Amino acid sequence: MKEFCAKALTKQKEQNLYRQLVPSDVIDAVTIKRGKKNLISFASNDYFGLSQNSQVKKAAIAATTRYGVGAGASRYVSGNNSLYTKLEKQIADIKKCADAIVFSSGYSCAIGVIPALVGKGDLVVADRLIHSSLIDGVKLSGATMMRFLHNDVAHAAEILQQNRAKYQKCLIITETVFSMDGDRGCVEDLQKLAQEFSSILIADDAHGLFEKNDAVALQNSDLLILGTLSKAVGNLGGYVAGDKDIIDYLRNFAKSQIYSTALPPAILAAASTSLAIIAKKNLAQKTLQNAQYFCQLMNLDNPQSAIVVIIIGDSLKTLEIAKKIIANGFLVAAIRYPTVEKNKARLRITFSALHNKSDIAKLASIIKQQISQ
Ligand SMILES: Cc1ncc(COP(=O)(O)O)c(C=O)c1O
Repeated sequence: MKEFCAKALTKQKEQNLYRQLVPSDVIDAVTIKRGKKNLISFASNDYFGLSQNSQVKKAAIAATTRYGVGAGASRYVSGNNSLYTKLEKQIADIKKCADAIVFSSGYSCAIGVIPALVGKGDLVVADRLIHSSLIDGVKLSGATMMRFLHNDVAHAAEILQQNRAKYQKCLIITETVFSMDGDRGCVEDLQKLAQEFSSILIADDAHGLFEKNDAVALQNSDLLILGTLSKAVGNLGGYVAGDKDIIDYLRNFAKSQIYSTALPPAILAAASTSLAIIAKKNLAQKTLQNAQYFCQLMNLDNPQSAIVVIIIGDSLKTLEIAKKIIANGFLVAAIRYPTVEKNKARLRITFSALHNKSDIAKLASIIKQQISQ
């Protein structure tokens, strides 16, 4: 085994795909400390800076003082703190769904929900660029997976026409915002296909910004919204929201929920406070304006989300550019295979409502300079 691991690591290094964990301490909503250096971060998914919000922090501290640090058991035994009920109601309300369940993370939600809904003899029709957690959920389920070309609804329809009748249940899977591309999924069109082919659409809203006109915010039994509390909400945890009976079924059959310890009370209280802030303020607008400002400066298409990507192609070149950006005091993510397809390595730049224009302009100028070399 040791030899196998060493060989695999050598291969990763040769291909510039070796991953290293770098200690990174958050200083404030947009600043991060790496080694001795403070960097302005455009690499976090904390789109509204809520992980650093004083009200949110206070709620976490108060819950810890009152209930302690850990939950002590799974939700089904004694870990189901009453804060869960409040949080799940808030999620269902904000997503305009009948009910919702909170999981320990978005990843654990995907690998719990999908195998609970489908198995051998069932079909999953999924966008080619869906997140690894969703793919792992499908693999775990044993259902047959067929992929359609990214955002190609006609291709999804063709797959369904040719195959749907051969299977019992069917899921269609997409994302509301694609995590490594920043573009939006065709949720409404796929929902129509779900209706036509007696299927359920799962839309992963992990990178959604809780916009007032969210296309997925419909109360419908053919749509399940998966999401996370770790990005725009600034905390930790995943959720699924949808039809009352389906959510109740998942409460009974999603194994990653049942066989895992509940979230700490501090996280539940913090997420609940963040959602209350999100429901009151339009934080998405400022976040998107910041992404738009950057795209204007870079002559890029108007962004569809808080995520902007610049495809470089080669992994080593992408890493080198990211290093030079760090040397200039900014942090952006260098994304390589297998997170994205081979030869599609890219800079992934994420925007926060709390970034200021002058830092955005500086970053644009540094990136322009580095990619033109
Ligand atoms: C699209 C998508 N789905 C799910 C997840 C998993 O969410 P979490 O980080 O809460 O496990 C992520 C996070 O990386 C994601 O980008």
